[in-house]
Amino acid sequence: MFFTQSIQCATYSSNILSWKVMAELFRFGVSLDKALLDKFDRYIRERNYSNRSEAFRDLIRQELIKKEWNEGDDVAGAITLIYDHHRRDLLNKITDLQHDFQKVIISTQHIHLDHDNCLEIVAVRGKPEEIMRLTDMLKSIKGVKHGTLSMSSTGKDIE
Ligand code: NI
Repeated sequence: MFFTQSIQCATYSSNILSWKVMAELFRFGVSLDKALLDKFDRYIRERNYSNRSEAFRDLIRQELIKKEWNEGDDVAGAITLIYDHHRRDLLNKITDLQHDFQKVIISTQHIHLDHDNCLEIVAVRGKPEEIMRLTDMLKSIKGVKHGTLSMSSTGKDIE
């Protein structure tokens, strides 16, 4: 594997000619067999990536986020719930749980989907295990029709 280094951005500021390094880019070669490369190219076409580099960067970020959720102690994400509006006991249970987990809940958005169904989006940040525990508890409440956790990152450790 080889590396070449290049400076990507330069800015010109007011009176003094000053060049500021915005980001350092490193290039490296990747060897792939043809079949795997064809699959990768199909993958990036289907997802509308403009080039292989951007797709590759996203795959790396995805792996880093997975690592944050497995080993880190500060992550961010969103829990999405679909539930039956008419079940008042359910509403109380969801609210009670959110009070108990206020340390990891940043904000909650409630949307009345139709006459019967509610959509709730709970933005979360904190310890992965607490967020996963909250998600499991919310999903398992009777009357919650669907619940998902979108695992993302605080963005601090990914570029
Ligand atoms: Ni509602």
